Amino acid sequence: MNAPGDAATLAVPRPATASHTLSRGLLRILTCGSVDDGKSTLIGRLLYDSQMIMEDTLATITKDSRKHGTVGEDVDLALLVDGLEAEREQGITIDVAYRFFTTPKRSFIVADCPGHEQYTRNMATGASNSETAIILVDSRKGLLTQTRRHSTICSLLGIRHVVLAVNKFDLVNFDQAVFERIVGEYATFAASLGFRTMVPIPLSARFGDNVTARSGNTPWYRGPCLLEHLESLVVEEETAAAPFRFPVQWVNRPNLDFRGFSGNVASGSIARGDAVVVAASGVGTTVARILGPNGDQDYATAGDAVTICLADEVDVARGDVLAPAAQRPAVADQFAAHILWMDDEPMLPGRQYLMRLGNSWTSASVTLIKHRVDVTTGEHAAATKLGMNEIGFCNLAASRPVALDPYEENRLTGAFILVDRYTNRTAGCGMIAFPLRRATNVHTERFLVDRSARAAALGQKPLVLWFTGLSGSGKSTVAKIVEQELVRLGRHTYALDGDNLRHGLNKDLGFTDADRVENIRRVGEVARLMVDAGLIVLCSFISPFRAERAMVREMLGPGEFFEIFVDTPIEECIRRDPKGLYARALAGQIANFTGVSSPYEPPEAAELVLSGGGATPEDLSRRVLDYLDRLQAG
Ligand code: ADX
Repeated sequence: MNAPGDAATLAVPRPATASHTLSRGLLRILTCGSVDDGKSTLIGRLLYDSQMIMEDTLATITKDSRKHGTVGEDVDLALLVDGLEAEREQGITIDVAYRFFTTPKRSFIVADCPGHEQYTRNMATGASNSETAIILVDSRKGLLTQTRRHSTICSLLGIRHVVLAVNKFDLVNFDQAVFERIVGEYATFAASLGFRTMVPIPLSARFGDNVTARSGNTPWYRGPCLLEHLESLVVEEETAAAPFRFPVQWVNRPNLDFRGFSGNVASGSIARGDAVVVAASGVGTTVARILGPNGDQDYATAGDAVTICLADEVDVARGDVLAPAAQRPAVADQFAAHILWMDDEPMLPGRQYLMRLGNSWTSASVTLIKHRVDVTTGEHAAATKLGMNEIGFCNLAASRPVALDPYEENRLTGAFILVDRYTNRTAGCGMIAFPLRRATNVHTERFLVDRSARAAALGQKPLVLWFTGLSGSGKSTVAKIVEQELVRLGRHTYALDGDNLRHGLNKDLGFTDADRVENIRRVGEVARLMVDAGLIVLCSFISPFRAERAMVREMLGPGEFFEIFVDTPIEECIRRDPKGLYARALAGQIANFTGVSSPYEPPEAAELVLSGGGATPEDLSRRVLDYLDRLQAG
């Protein structure tokens, strides 16, 4: 294998990066504003005034604006943009619409994002692909909550150039004082958002003032009109100038003679002969071939879809990242990131999600919410969970180390999504701030006696019997009898019980969803240690959520976790009410009580379901013991 640097002499000369950037003069613009701020009209005006509308489209709009238009007899330019029938009916925009237009000086892609709070997801998608944002404000209303919220999201998603479009300026009689007041307020608010340029423009999308030409109505305004500004705005050519990153999408091995790695160059560029490393393993080699749509090519740059062949047989799998030896991404299993939550199920620390970062999928959880960001004031607040549309600065832990960059440095290798394991919905997106060097200097110490030796010494197969069910369902009662019988048979056991652990290890936890997740996470870790010690562990916890029961199952090896659903109907639990808790919960005296004011998600594939009308605890225990017997026999 070549040492880094060896390849330098082989390197193929390549053109300067600037002429090979993704953008090539293209500007990606995000428009955001509240409902009625006039976004669609503004985009329509840009298209209309830059003569981008075909005659027939115009005819249709003229006809349509009589039906749906909100501007009387004039042509409603918003109809050019608001393509969806539903939004026409409601007079709002409900999806991200991408528009392309071009002037002699530049080409543009405009992402038109809806203003409603529940559509933050679309806005984030639009923002992550845009270089500049036009933030619309209605001159009569000034800054609104949405203005602040959109600006904060833009900033988090890496937009560094904003235009403050002070719209409907005709309606305030082109009053300079109004403009200055709004601009002053915005400048104060945006001071901490890290924008490199903020250009305020007084305009009227409806009448065209300061959109594609400067307006005679604002003689005091010395700045550019909107189009002039967009045509001349210099944005950093980030992706091409950043270090080379190639997240492998698939390993292309059609026959034994060929092995290439296919994917898109996320950033930077690479030439044949360049030294690269596989980021996670740090193993180095050189690029032997680069194959593009027309066969071999000398180099590839950000945005190119290529197949790369390496000089040596190194271990590379889907999701690995190829990078220059001298400019490697961080490789970490813990990192800090801003998370924007987009699911109606809240994000709970400790819960496992699937994380997609580049082309790699791992499981990951938030270990700590450092703070929630109030998007309207920028203030930080404490939080134990993140609800829909909330943003939090969090520490995360992935199940294995992954290659990553700070989002500031690379918007592709620094961003990830979190997917709900049960619904498969994209539940959140994240922007990495920095890797956390937690415990990287702590190694796993191997002892001379390992878990199989401990199990053998005890003469049993260690495992977890996980009893789940409502409070009062009989989990602990059944577990007690099973344990007693196992001990009588000479087995070594330990019982972990919800009520008991909450007096010690978990005494800091209550019954919110977030606390229950943490409760089960800790119990899972303890149960794993006890299995390691060779014991048969009986766990009795309500454990109301599927996600956490699945997590404990995954912590243990195959054949070590048995879920036993004590399926007693809630009416029966209420009738028994051994601790008098149901009576109090039903009277509203206990909050978040499972089955009353907090959910219980029944298992879908428990190893054993204990139900059946008149069965006594002894009958139910017998079924568990029989089940264990069959296991041992098998
Ligand atoms: S879990 O939901 O986090 O798994 P766990 O099994 O540890 O709960 O504790 C449940 C026990 O705590 C119940 O059996 C009951 O005695 C007691 N308890 C007190 N408050 C509540 C509540 N709000 N919901 C459920 N159980 C409660």
